[in-house]
Amino acid sequence: MKVSLTGIKPSGTVHIGNYLGAIVPAIELARRFERSLYFIADEHALTSVEDPAKLHAQIYDLAATWLACGLDPERTFFYRQSAIPEVFELAWILGCVAPKGLLDRAHAYKAALAAGEAINVGVYTYPVLMAADILLFDTTVVPVGKDQKQHVEIARDVAEKFNRLYGDVLALPEPEIGDQSMTVPGLDGRKMSKSYDNVIPLWAPAAQRRKLVMRIKTNSQAPAEPKDTESSEIFQLYRLFATPQQTAQLERRYAAGIGWADAKTALADVMEERLAPLRARYEALRADEAALDRVLEQGAQRARAIARATLARVRAAVGIATPGASAAQRETAT
Ligand code: TRP
Repeated sequence: MKVSLTGIKPSGTVHIGNYLGAIVPAIELARRFERSLYFIADEHALTSVEDPAKLHAQIYDLAATWLACGLDPERTFFYRQSAIPEVFELAWILGCVAPKGLLDRAHAYKAALAAGEAINVGVYTYPVLMAADILLFDTTVVPVGKDQKQHVEIARDVAEKFNRLYGDVLALPEPEIGDQSMTVPGLDGRKMSKSYDNVIPLWAPAAQRRKLVMRIKTNSQAPAEPKDTESSEIFQLYRLFATPQQTAQLERRYAAGIGWADAKTALADVMEERLAPLRARYEALRADEAALDRVLEQGAQRARAIARATLARVRAAVGIATPGASAAQRETAT
């Protein structure tokens, strides 16, 4: 069976670049797999977030965001990492297989080291926990951004080593790197990214979003001059939200000479058209944390059924099978 799994870190404001570049493609991708698991990596977030109220809010923001954008929790197992205790036991076992040198070479750890940051043990063992997230569910495909590719490769290396030691127990995952042509420009023309402080938050109220759109950098061409679409961030963003007909129409307005203020208004309008219904859904979902808990808990229950079977197989393979384990579990172990 082809199984896709990915973890999403609750790390703050979701912006238009995340929405178009990650959320929408991931939701599309889930439809292609017999089984898909998307989870909120709340335990991973602890390596960097130390404010409990903030972390709590970010977890629910994220859950509501993915559901509002169309993640179907009936089809895709949607859960919190922290609700799956099997992950943490598997992480320990994998940690006993993973060579230290493999973790020493992890880019994220090396970058933190180079930056002179205070590094907690969680930062260092981060890839082992991530390997457990992945390997616990017989994952075959892990859709991630470029920055996470090495982590998935580490998971695969650890699974291979485990299998060499203990037999054919773990499925080997492959990273699937998101479409890199989907670069969403930010307010200053660079790729939209929190680290450039050039983002348009996905759930900004219409008026705030309009204000941000008005700040997008343009050249100094006069209103009546014909304008180039390819080099215009406004046009590039417009195209990502508009229908092909709307895009063709704006292209004609560019050729005929459109003022930058009018182009920005067109962009703010088309964004609002597409995002207003999503925002309404988001706000309704976000207002009811208990309901979000129920959705995530249901996902966790379904995920744990798989997790328990894998962990039983792993425990048996390494020689710590629980004496009381059911016959069925022992069977899957052999
Ligand atoms: N490390 C990922 C990130 O920072 C989040 C993550 C945690 C993840 N566990 C995972 C991604 C397992 C894919 C599979 O974005």
